Amino acid sequence: MGLENKHIAVYVTGGIAVYKAAEVVRGFIRQGAVVRVAMTQDATKFVTPLTFGALTKQPVLTDLFAGDNDQFVPHIALADWSDLAVIVPATANVIAKMATGLADDAVSTTLLATTGLKVVVPAMNEHMWDAPATTRNIATLTADGVVVMQPDTGLLAEGYSGRGRLPEPSAIVDFVQHVWAKQTGRLRGRNVMVTAGGTRERIDPVRYISNDSSGKMGYALARAAANEGANVTLISSIISLSAPDSVHVITVSGAQEMLDTMKTYFAQQDAVIMAAAVADFKPVSVAEQKIKKTADNDLMTLQLTKNPDILKTLSVDKTDQIMVGFAAETEHLLTNAQHKLIDKKLDMLIANDVSRKDIGFNADQNQVTVIRPNVEPVQLPQMTKTKLSEQLIEMIADLLPGK
Ligand SMILES: Cc1cc2nc3c(=O)[nH]c(=O)nc-3n(C[C@H](O)[C@H](O)[C@H](O)COP(=O)(O)O)c2cc1C
Repeated sequence: MGLENKHIAVYVTGGIAVYKAAEVVRGFIRQGAVVRVAMTQDATKFVTPLTFGALTKQPVLTDLFAGDNDQFVPHIALADWSDLAVIVPATANVIAKMATGLADDAVSTTLLATTGLKVVVPAMNEHMWDAPATTRNIATLTADGVVVMQPDTGLLAEGYSGRGRLPEPSAIVDFVQHVWAKQTGRLRGRNVMVTAGGTRERIDPVRYISNDSSGKMGYALARAAANEGANVTLISSIISLSAPDSVHVITVSGAQEMLDTMKTYFAQQDAVIMAAAVADFKPVSVAEQKIKKTADNDLMTLQLTKNPDILKTLSVDKTDQIMVGFAAETEHLLTNAQHKLIDKKLDMLIANDVSRKDIGFNADQNQVTVIRPNVEPVQLPQMTKTKLSEQLIEMIADLLPGK
């Protein structure tokens, strides 16, 4: 879901970081949101309303009494239109006004009339941020249910380093998306564990056996679950992909370590999605030192032993977790998948044909069939792993009992 089609009112106030607000607005629009901007008179001294008008293709509210608005009562119209309000950058002044309920210009009046979620992104000089009055005002806003994003530490416009910098625009967009999901997402308050990547079974300190799984599907699922407000634990055997900040990523190597880590977090999960490609076998022993090539070992034998069956092992401790598995097959896709569904007592199995080069392992697209006990298999069309993950998370959310 994310911010798609959401109405976001962005309130721009008179700080030196105003220019970054334009990037934040673009970030929201890129997420599919509809954005309207209101600016204080002092903000317009830094950047003109034209910039925000051009970006949003909407009139910018700067003056309640200008009479050039398409609404007779512009502050109420904007307050009622918005699903969420983001104040960026938020000056010490607007924070003080919000904390005391002052309504003496277009921005503060509209904010007082706003009943939905408000996110404040402060930016100011370090001493202004540390001032007891600002500390008190921030505490008041938090107690009133306003969400405050903490400022960054770094080089300030004044030329010295300190706390009070506006965070990067992309971090602000991610933060707002996260806060929105936590309050409204279908998986808010739920714990979801996802595994990703091909496991790495060590041969010696520098070599391992693995497979072609890139982890893209698992990471896309973790992101989609986080976008629906879930608390996501991602157990990953790869380090090359990045997950949203809100996702708790734990890096593991082999199947045994993946299982041990999963067991630690299993009891509190509402759903477990096993998108990792777990190796069936691992070397019997791991050499302590790098195995050397010698003159007489033209042929070498690596002895393998079976890895633990993660799904089967977890099913022993299962209470009411929804268990979702993946079946990567190169032949007899549906028959093998049906067998795995029953054998591992899964609630859902996502079967994909990894013999095709355009989908499955490593590709950005996937095409899967969703199999559930006593339900006709659902074949989904080919789509990006991002889109597919959103659909699968919807289907998994449908299986969770109401809270
Ligand atoms: C060059 C300059 C930079 C400023 N930067 C900030 C800032 O980053 N944060 C802040 O709280 N105030 C800053 N101020 C002070 C505000 O502009 C001032 O408090 C103003 O009254 C805020 O009005 P507003 O909240 O209605 O936009 C700055 C002022 C100037 C002249």
